[in-house]
Amino acid sequence: IELPLRDTRQRPLRDLRISVTDRCNFRCIYCMPKEVFGKDYAFLPRSELLSFEEIERVARVFVGLGVEKIRLTGGEPLLRKDLEYLVERLARLQTPRGADIDLTLTTNGSLLSRKAQSLRDAGMKRITVSLDAIDEAIFQQMNGVDYPAARVLDGIEAAQRAGLAPVKVNMVVKRGVNDTQILPMARHFRGTGAEVRFIEFMDVGTSNGWNMESVVPSSEVLRIIHAAFPLVSANRDRPSDTSVRFRYADGQGDIGVISSVTRPFCGGCTRLRLSADGQLFTCLFASRGLDIRNPMRNGSSDDALRWLVADLWTQRADRYSERRGENSAAHDQPKVEMSFIGG
Ligand code: GTP
Ligand code: 5AD
Ligand code: SF4
Ligand code: SF4
Repeated sequence: IELPLRDTRQRPLRDLRISVTDRCNFRCIYCMPKEVFGKDYAFLPRSELLSFEEIERVARVFVGLGVEKIRLTGGEPLLRKDLEYLVERLARLQTPRGADIDLTLTTNGSLLSRKAQSLRDAGMKRITVSLDAIDEAIFQQMNGVDYPAARVLDGIEAAQRAGLAPVKVNMVVKRGVNDTQILPMARHFRGTGAEVRFIEFMDVGTSNGWNMESVVPSSEVLRIIHAAFPLVSANRDRPSDTSVRFRYADGQGDIGVISSVTRPFCGGCTRLRLSADGQLFTCLFASRGLDIRNPMRNGSSDDALRWLVADLWTQRADRYSERRGENSAAHDQPKVEMSFIGG
C-alpha cells in the first residue's frame, strides 16, 4: 500500500475521530433534542460497542496508514467507563517516523473537574470543551437538561490546571437562542489562554430541525467581536483544520470560527470517523458506514484490515458541505446522527 493514502480528490488520510459511546448526559437542542432522544430511545447495547482492545487495534492500523491525529468523541466520551485506560494505550502510539500522535478529546465538560488530572496522567495532551453560553438560563436552554454553565467553567479550569493545554471551547451559535452570548463568551475567555471557536449550526443528522435562518454566519460573529475587541487574522494551523483563527490585536489570545455552512472546508478534509459500534464513515454527513467490527471479530488479519481501509479511502469522494450550496438533493439523503458519529 502506497502512503499517504489519497482519496479521489487527492486528500490524504490524516485524522481519525473515534466515538467511544453514543450516549450523552446532555440533550443539546442542536444535537440530541430531548423530544427525539427520550427515555425510550434505543442506544447501542454493550455487546455492540468496540472494546478498548478493538479500538486500540483499529487505531494502530490507522496510524500505520498515515494518521497523525486522533480525537475521542461520543456522545459524551467521558461517560465511557475507564476511558483513561484507552487513553493510556493510544498515547503510546507513534507515527512510522517516530513522532507522537496528536491525541485529544471533545467533551461537554460535565465530568471534567473529576477527570482532568487522570486524563493528563494517562497521556492526553489537550482537550476541547463544548460550552454554548455563559448565561445560566441560556446555557440551560441549549443543553436541555438544566446543566449549570458554572460547572462546565470549573471543568475548563481543572483542565487548565492539569496542563491540558491549550484548552479550546466550542460554541455552536443558534440564531434567536444564544447569539446574544457571542460577546459575553469572547469577553469571558479573553486573556485566559482558552481559545473559543464559534461554530455555525450545521444540518447534521435528521432530528435537529435545522434551517438556514438559524445559522449565524461567521462573518457576522467576527463583525460583532471585532467591534468590541479588534481582531487581526491568523492562519489555519494546518490546511485541513476546521477552524480559521483570529488574534486579538491587544495580545489577549486567539479565537476561531468554524464555517461549515458559509465557507465549507471539504477541499482539505483528511478526516475519517469510527463509530462506537465499529463502522467507518468517510464524511460527517454520510448515510452509511463500512463495518470493521465483524471482520475483526471474525479473525481478519491486520493486513486485511489495512486493505479494507485503503480501499475505502481511495474511493472516497465526499464533499457534503460544498454540495449543500449547489442546490442539490444533498440534504434529502438520510444522514447519520451527530451524537452517533461524534461531530
Ligand atoms: P481541532 O483539532 O482543535 O481543530 O478540533 P476540530 O475542530 O477538528 O474538532 P471538534 O470536535 O472541536 O469540532 C469542532 C466543530 O467542527 C464541530 O461542530 C464539529 O462537528 C465540526 N467538524 C469537525 N470535523 C468536521 C468535518 O470534517 N466536517 C464538518 N462539516 N464539520 C466538522
Ligand atoms: N452543528 C454544529 N456543531 C455541532 N455540534 C454538535 N451538533 C452540532 C451541530 N448541529 C458540536 C458540539 C461539539 C462538537 C463535537 O460538535 O457542540 O462541540
Ligand atoms: Fe451531548 Fe455533545 Fe451532543 Fe450536546 S453536543 S448532546 S453534549 S454529544
Ligand atoms: Fe469532510 Fe464531509 Fe465535513 Fe466536507 S462535510 S469537511 S467531506 S466530513
